[in-house]
Amino acid sequence: MKHLVLLLLCTQVIRSSSNEVCPSGYSDEDGNSECLKPIRKEVYEGGEIIDITHRFTPNTPSGAPDGIGEYIRLLLSMKNGSDYNFSEFKLAVHTGTHVDAPGHMYDNYFDAGFDVDTLDLRVLNGPGLLIDVPRDKNLTAKVMKSLNIPRGIQRVIFRTSNTDRKLMWKKEFDLSYSGFMKDGAQWLVDNTDIKLVGIDYLSVAAFDDLVPAHLVFLKSREIILVEGLKLDNVQPGLYNVHCLPLRILGAEGSPIRCILIK
Ligand SMILES: *[C@@H]1O[C@H](CO)[C@@H](O)[C@H](O)[C@H]1NC(C)=O
Ligand SMILES: *[C@@H]1O[C@H](CO)[C@@H](O)[C@H](O)[C@H]1NC(C)=O
Ligand SMILES: *[C@@H]1O[C@H](CO)[C@@H](O)[C@H](O)[C@H]1NC(C)=O
Repeated sequence: MKHLVLLLLCTQVIRSSSNEVCPSGYSDEDGNSECLKPIRKEVYEGGEIIDITHRFTPNTPSGAPDGIGEYIRLLLSMKNGSDYNFSEFKLAVHTGTHVDAPGHMYDNYFDAGFDVDTLDLRVLNGPGLLIDVPRDKNLTAKVMKSLNIPRGIQRVIFRTSNTDRKLMWKKEFDLSYSGFMKDGAQWLVDNTDIKLVGIDYLSVAAFDDLVPAHLVFLKSREIILVEGLKLDNVQPGLYNVHCLPLRILGAEGSPIRCILIK
């Protein structure tokens, strides 16, 4: 039964992808045709859906010096006579595009169970602004004030020099990334209605204020931090933001899939 389901799934995947890339009836029964090439999209249909998630590769930065390395491997392989391919992956939960839960920096919240499974999907999904911040400064209170983010806006994705510098595309962890200073985080908490803070490197907090700025954001357990977003070539403006973390019980972070819809 299990085999049958898998087999059906496989056939379907092959059929739908071959429909997209091959002239109909072109690929052979085994799907071995030359034209069987998967499509990987960043933007769908005239920009209506923009994928702002980085794909995982061995070079995805993790905070360690060397990227995530060989994070996926086949446990069962067709090349080795199995009926199907069957992989497992192993990742630190704060690698690539990911979300932080309150338990990330508050031990009492961790113990009490404020994990990624408790994050509010209403916060993670809804209208939000993508804005460019000044490139020559970290995100201080002064910078935040200058952005004039209106009351009522609940989701903001901040694009910084991290995007210009393509930091998420480099496997080495770069400590000079831009991020929030403690006073910038506090300013947002005190003067805006923002509940989702998105940023374009592995941490919303600049390295010099790594812990203090996280603590300010996570204290109320109402603000959700989405980090490592892919914001290259996206117009600033208002979008519908959709982010979905995995439901990993007991995890203070999770890989997350985020898209913008116009
Ligand atoms: C995985 O499955 C595909 C068929 O879907 C097969 O062509 C390929 O060789 C398999 N890969 C490995 C490493 O076994
Ligand atoms: C297949 O088996 C060989 C020999 O045991 C092993 O070296 C190889 O890594 C296996 N390949 C996969 C994809 O599991
Ligand atoms: C932001 O702060 C980091 C240290 O946390 C520093 O290396 C970097 O130069 C600062 N960036 C800007 C644009 O001032």
